[in-house]
Amino acid sequence: MEKLLIEGGHPLRGTVKISGAKNAVLPVIAATLLGQDRPSLLEEVPHLEDVTTISEIVRSIGAKTEYNAEKETLTVDATNLTATEAPSELVRKMRASFLLMGPLLSRYGHAKISLPGGCAIGTRPIDLHLKGFEALGAKIEIGHGFIKVEAPNGLEGNRIYLDFPSVGATENILMAASTARGQTILENPAEEPEIVDLANFLNVMGANIRGAGTNPIKINGVEKLRGQEYMIIPDRIEAGTYMLAAAMTKGDVFIENAISEHLKPVIAKLKEAGAVLYEDVNGIRVSSDKPLKAVDIKTLPYPGFPTDMQAQFMAMLSVSEGNGSIIETVFENRFMHVEELRRMGAKITVDDRRAEVIGIPELKAARVKATDLRAGAAMVLAGLVANGETTVTALHHIDRGYDRLVEKLIGLGAHIKRVEE
Ligand code: EPZ
Repeated sequence: MEKLLIEGGHPLRGTVKISGAKNAVLPVIAATLLGQDRPSLLEEVPHLEDVTTISEIVRSIGAKTEYNAEKETLTVDATNLTATEAPSELVRKMRASFLLMGPLLSRYGHAKISLPGGCAIGTRPIDLHLKGFEALGAKIEIGHGFIKVEAPNGLEGNRIYLDFPSVGATENILMAASTARGQTILENPAEEPEIVDLANFLNVMGANIRGAGTNPIKINGVEKLRGQEYMIIPDRIEAGTYMLAAAMTKGDVFIENAISEHLKPVIAKLKEAGAVLYEDVNGIRVSSDKPLKAVDIKTLPYPGFPTDMQAQFMAMLSVSEGNGSIIETVFENRFMHVEELRRMGAKITVDDRRAEVIGIPELKAARVKATDLRAGAAMVLAGLVANGETTVTALHHIDRGYDRLVEKLIGLGAHIKRVEE
């Protein structure tokens, strides 16, 4: 097992380039399974464990994949798939594997996937995904640890209302409806930039999707889709994480490739906290020369404040001036990082979905663990400002979603290294 050793107190300075978005590339790789007569070539594909995992899964059902780490390109040839059932040991590793259900159902009329791994941040049901498939005419069978969907007569467009704007359910329904007969109107969909990226890729493949990123989304089914070339959008959560690191360490960093449009709530809250931000077409520059002021955060579906930045902001509030509060409205159990931050001296109280943070001048280095992907990022941020050398373990969580984190932080002057336990 490896661990991170982080010596706090070094302001971050310089430029960091943001990689392709994890939460865009995963649904886009699932969508490549709809490409019937030519391979897809994806660009700006980040070096992430989750990309490796989903590539293994699509290969297990007959797709051919090739990742060029140098060029950051991934080729997926799904012209001849051999199965519509994904292996459970791989699927359990990553909830996003459930995104294969929509494309396989759409292309072959059936799919069988083991129930997605529950995640540290809550039970994360899939009822809205299944409601969408049923509305399109599929029959659902829930077995022991797996789900089977079948539509022997193909899928029929329909009007679907999502009780919650679920990102995954929106993505699965977009992919399933793309080759259904007739029109599907998806009401109350997720509006995240990653939804728009998926819809753009599907349209480049030949789909007819209008209104992604707004409410409702209209999908006019087409006969078939072809593999295509596509460039993945930059990762707004990776960008937000480095923006916070720059401000917390009283540094001055240019976050190259960050798209301001995708980060409005994060930009607003950092400005409210007293950081100085400059936005231009190539990225966002973030600096601060004094302690940040506490702010109040309430996570919401896009375009509200992103739940995937909540843990990182809690690390920031721990050492801000004043008291801040965080309300987590998207997941029912996304405060696992509180315990770890308390080990560093943070003063945090939690009541159900609300956390109150009393800012203190300094965190103390400690041995802490990543409890999930974004909590791991929060512990790294805390380590960058803590007094002493912080150890962070359970790095597999961080490797799922941060591309070359240590390398990028060292490039900004952080004193961080990854060593064997
Ligand atoms: C996506 O997860 C992201 N993952 C998550 O990012 C992100 O936190 C989340 O969207 C919200 O923005 C990927 O894109 C791979 P949801 P997803 O379906 O699709 C409930 C990260 O750190 N719900 O929008 O699983 C669910 O319980 C990860 O990069 C239902 O009730 O999120 C949750 O409370 C973490 N029924 C809420 O909706 C359903 O059928 C949001 O879930 C589906 C979801």
